[in-house]
Amino acid sequence: MNWIFKFLTSSIGKKIVMSLTGLFLCLFLVVHMIGNLQLLVPFVDAADQGKAFNEYAYIMTHNPLIKAVSYVTYAFILLHAFQGILIAVTNRSAASKTPQGKRYYGKEVSPTPARQAARNMALLGTIILAFIGLHMAQFWGVMHFSTWEGEILPGVQALDGNGYKNLYGLVNAAFQEAWVVIVYVISVAVLSMHLMHGFQSAFQTLGLNHKRYTPLIKGLGTFYSVAIPLGFASMPIIMFIASK
Ligand code: HEM
Repeated sequence: MNWIFKFLTSSIGKKIVMSLTGLFLCLFLVVHMIGNLQLLVPFVDAADQGKAFNEYAYIMTHNPLIKAVSYVTYAFILLHAFQGILIAVTNRSAASKTPQGKRYYGKEVSPTPARQAARNMALLGTIILAFIGLHMAQFWGVMHFSTWEGEILPGVQALDGNGYKNLYGLVNAAFQEAWVVIVYVISVAVLSMHLMHGFQSAFQTLGLNHKRYTPLIKGLGTFYSVAIPLGFASMPIIMFIASK
């Protein structure tokens, strides 16, 4: 057990944990984004009225295997954030000891590009963590802890008429508020910047460097970092416009 702790707290161990948890969270985002696209089904089939999304949400919260994966996701979000903060703090204190990163009046002079990138990642990651907190309080918290009797919000019935919790109604009502849409769009733009560096950096940390494959990974990383946040942004924007 001691060697596991030693490895996880070594500088390479921390980076490997960051890349593995980061890649798992990248997979989570693909599934989450594609699943959430069912929020848009009522725009192509008016009779649906959010049923497809509510059925999907029911399966996601009742299937034991999916529930287990959810717990892994929560743990990895916390581990990824904790290790990221630890790396940023270690870099900061190391900077004051190297001639290159000498600090004057608490300010660092000419940090290396790698150190600058790590610092940006820590800042972007902190914003994303704050967004996840707000996001989970808004939807996940209500989904899991509300008693769902009567109305969940003024004018929004708690059940959808098919016996499912009306999570669609909750999300739809949230995305009628301009400030919510603005927070979501800014947050997924920040997510895009975080992924733009993080995706390919994770492969590099794992030693997957190859003349032929590295450009491919970089290209895939750029595509992923644009497509996933765009998919997420499309939902609040479309639902907001449609509600006006
Ligand atoms: C517009 C985009 C998004 C929508 C409509 C959306 C919707 C939802 C909903 C309805 C839930 C609750 C599901 C449930 O409890 O069954 C949820 C959970 C969650 N969302 Fe999102 N989400 C969006 C974007 C994001 C983004 C960008 C992230 C991460 C950066 C994220 C991270 C999470 C996490 C970690 C959970 C908990 C997952 C679980 O319990 O397995 N979401 N989301």
